[in-house]
Amino acid sequence: MPNSTLSDNENKQTHPPKKIHVETWGCQMNSADSERIYALMAQKGYQPTLATEDADLIVLNTCNIREKARHKVVSRLGLLRDMKSLKPGLKIALAGCVAQAEGKSLLKELPYLDVVVGPGTIDDLPKLITEHGEKSNVNFSLGFQKMRRDLPTPNVKEIRTVSSEEVATASLADKNEVSRYLNINQGCNNFCTFCVVPFTRGPEISRHPDDIAADAEALIRQGAKEITLLGQNVNSYGLDLMRPEETIEGEHTPFIDLLLKIAALDGLERLRFTTSNPHDFTYPLAQVFKLEPKLGRYIHLPVQSGSDSMLEAMHRKTTVEEYFQRLSWLREIHPDMAISSDLIVGFPGESDQDFDDTLSLLKKARFSFVFAFKYSPRKGTAASRFKQQIDESIKTQRLAELNKIQDQITLEHNLGEIGEEREVLVLYKHKKEENTYYGRTLHNRLVKIHAEKNIVGRLMPVCIREASKIALVGTLL
Ligand code: SAH
Ligand code: SF4
Ligand code: F3S
Repeated sequence: MPNSTLSDNENKQTHPPKKIHVETWGCQMNSADSERIYALMAQKGYQPTLATEDADLIVLNTCNIREKARHKVVSRLGLLRDMKSLKPGLKIALAGCVAQAEGKSLLKELPYLDVVVGPGTIDDLPKLITEHGEKSNVNFSLGFQKMRRDLPTPNVKEIRTVSSEEVATASLADKNEVSRYLNINQGCNNFCTFCVVPFTRGPEISRHPDDIAADAEALIRQGAKEITLLGQNVNSYGLDLMRPEETIEGEHTPFIDLLLKIAALDGLERLRFTTSNPHDFTYPLAQVFKLEPKLGRYIHLPVQSGSDSMLEAMHRKTTVEEYFQRLSWLREIHPDMAISSDLIVGFPGESDQDFDDTLSLLKKARFSFVFAFKYSPRKGTAASRFKQQIDESIKTQRLAELNKIQDQITLEHNLGEIGEEREVLVLYKHKKEENTYYGRTLHNRLVKIHAEKNIVGRLMPVCIREASKIALVGTLL
């Protein structure tokens, strides 16, 4: 109907679509939440933009895992306040784990902050944004996702209200479309003594496997070749969905069943998962790496420390010996299995000997890489109240020593790749360099490749020619 088309056009001219920019500061779950924010706001007509200055709505999706998070928010908001004075309609929302922990007080302190929403209540964001400045004087929504009481039934209330397709088509500003994240459970019940996550994300809740499979199919239709299943503790996925009388048959945990279900989807080339807590990492789960080639030869298995007394104080519920047992299960299947890990230095009470034990673990485990952190006391956590907090200067020194040893191990692994033929899943094109692409091997090593035509999304056989600590350089075969 020409008339309505005309008025649509006129409408477009008078009201250009609003734009949203989300800053993603945290872990992969935080990143998945950012995609969800884009999808939710798209329903309200907001288009994504990478340029903050074009945005009508800026969302800071924050992380609270280490100290100074609040400080970082305050200083970022200070800069945005200046932008707001130039563009009065601009709205600023605080989301993520700092929002959950500190949002209410920040809202009081910083009047130029419009809306606060926690990770468990993201779905309230569109309502808060549209109502803000109009009729509502409530500009925050915090709290964890509600525990479901009617479990398990096929009608389990879905965590998401946005359809799979909408999430899949949402802006990929922070992630490429070949490799996508997919949340399978939220929150955590483990209460490691250093960690703030159970306080910012609440108790563990698993999504229904059929919903997860539907999302995975949607992502694949959108071009995903690799999916990473996300949770703070993926290994315990689905235990909360079981009836009390249900038992785990043949040691097939709900997580193993989920892995096999998703891996069987046509069009998916690789399936990864994170984070896997060594405490719940079982022998049958390790065997899935043998059964299912799509899992590749890489896993992230955070150990935190090489000292049993530190692991106990951290409430990790795994000893160093048990940790190495898990590595041996994996390396029995694939001797070249690439394993990465997280480590904390300077946990309260960490002696020189404890730290040396961590260095010994590093040398023995030969991780492909590690994320190492200085212990950072977090409000509300048990360890923040422990006596014998370690001096910052000792933490800094230990972190540097640890990184130096690990950098050498990472480099040795990467140099060992030279001359090898590897299958690389090409993930993205270099933003500036012509004909330059980046992808990952089955071992999750980053490879730079030169190609004359677009190879994004394809599995390419590559010979590794050069290596540094950071990446490999390969040529197409
Ligand atoms: N659920 C994951 C970890 C999520 S947090 C697991 O249990 O493995 C990611 C990493 O941040 C942790 O593995 C830990 O190494 C680090 N981390 C968490 N809290 C920290 C703190 N208070 N100080 C320093 N590092 C911390
Ligand atoms: Fe934090 Fe421990 Fe839960 Fe991981 S398992 S999110 S470290 S409490
Ligand atoms: Fe950070 Fe929250 Fe993830 S604290 S690490 S964004 S769960």
